[in-house]
Parts: sequence; structure tokens; C-alpha cells
Amino acid sequence: MVLGSRDASRAREVADEVTRLARRFAGSDAVRVTGARNVDAVIGAQIVIVAVPWSAHAATIAESADALAGRILVDCVNPLGFDSQGAYALPVAEGSAAAQAAQLAPDADVVVAFNHISAVTLLNPDIARVDADVLVLGDSRPATDRVQALAEMIPGVRGVYAGRLRLAGQVEALTANLIAINRRYRAHAGLRVTDIAHGQP
Ligand SMILES: NC(=O)c1ccc[n+]([C@@H]2O[C@H](COP(=O)([O-])OP(=O)(O)OC[C@H]3O[C@@H](n4cnc5c(N)ncnc54)[C@H](OP(=O)(O)O)[C@@H]3O)[C@@H](O)[C@H]2O)c1
Repeated sequence: MVLGSRDASRAREVADEVTRLARRFAGSDAVRVTGARNVDAVIGAQIVIVAVPWSAHAATIAESADALAGRILVDCVNPLGFDSQGAYALPVAEGSAAAQAAQLAPDADVVVAFNHISAVTLLNPDIARVDADVLVLGDSRPATDRVQALAEMIPGVRGVYAGRLRLAGQVEALTANLIAINRRYRAHAGLRVTDIAHGQP
């Protein structure tokens, strides 16, 4: 796994720290995370996850658009604004962050996932199983299948197919509701979908 950054030395520093944590969680020295500049991190990857603030979304994808061709681009970016009332969904000209990604990197398979999983929860060493589903959206069945499987590598998580890319806007916007829940209940809320069998339909 390669961790990207705007700064290669910062990427390497954080990658070393992630390697140390991952080895402790996995109880194995087989895990190895390396660091590179964003554009270099894309080269050689089959699956690329873009996880930057909304304000940096377009520029980050545009600079790697050529290298993203033929790869799965997982977009977890939520276009949100924040004011004294909390988080709110920002209007996006293309319809959603994911639709913007698909326009900027037309030869990538864009998949929406991980929008609602709290980084605080994932980093908490006391949480052995994460009580949440990951909604996975995209227009390519092989790509959404792979990202569902990726999500299910997190203990407790189900990857749940939730529609085509054109439905991404409301999934991204729903994060504002989760942030409101978090503020009211002092939580790191996630989602569970009821009445579906585990695994592929
Ligand atoms: N945090 C969560 O729990 C969570 C959960 C689900 C989805 N998300 C989504 O994931 C995205 C990232 O969230 P986050 O909390 O990880 O944000 P973050 O910590 O503010 O940013 C993540 C990384 O993006 C890079 N970055 C920051 N500003 C940038 C800029 N102007 N241009 C290019 N790169 C920049 C930085 O890496 P370098 O400085 O090393 O380049 C930073 O470490 C957001 O869109 C959010 O909606 C977050």
C-alpha cells in the first residue's frame, strides 16, 4: 500500500507510522506501507482512494488524471460547508464529488465508498469490530464488487451496493446529518442497512 501526500517526505513519515500501527493491529510484520507524492502513489496501484478536503478534490484528481486511467478511483470526499449551525451540503456543479471525479478522470472506474466511516473510529485501538456498513456506489459491477470486498476487510463492516454513480450526491450530503448526530449525541455515528442478506445478491 502506498500513502500519498503533496510532500514526499511527509508521506514517508506518515507511512512509517501507519506501518507501525498496522503491524501492531495485525500482529504481523508482513504489512508494509510506503509513502510518495500523490501523482507517484497512483502509479502501480490498482485501487486509488482520494481522501482530501473538498476544496482540494478537483486539483488533486486533475493532476493524476492520466495515471488514473484503467484504475479504480474510490472517492470518499464529502462536499460540505461548516458554519455556526454545523455541517451542510455544498452545491456541486457536476452533481456530486464523484461525478466531478468521473469528469476529471474519465478513464478511471469511479466508485463512491467510505463516506460515512469515522476516521476516529478506525483509529481507535479499543474498537475490534466496526459497527457500520459502507455504502458502495458505481457504474461498474466488477469495480463495486472489489470495493465492497475491500470494505469488508475491516472487521464488522459490510460493503453494501447502493446504486449507480448518479446517486452519489445524497450519499455525500448525508454525512452532514451524521455530523449533526455526532454533535448531539457526542458519537461517531455510522450507518447500518437492514433486511439484506450478507454478501452478494
Ligand atoms: N475524517 C473522517 O472521519 C472522514 C470520514 C469519511 C470521509 N471523509 C472525507 O475524507 C476527506 C478527507 O478527510 P480528512 O478528515 O482526512 O481531511 P484532512 O485530514 O483535512 O485532509 C486529508 C489530507 O488531505 C491533504 N490535503 C489537505 N489540504 C489539501 C489541499 N489544499 N490540497 C491538497 N491536499 C490537501 C493533506 O495531506 P498532505 O498535506 O500530506 O498532502 C491531508 O492530510 C474529506 O473530503 C472528508 O469529507 C472523512
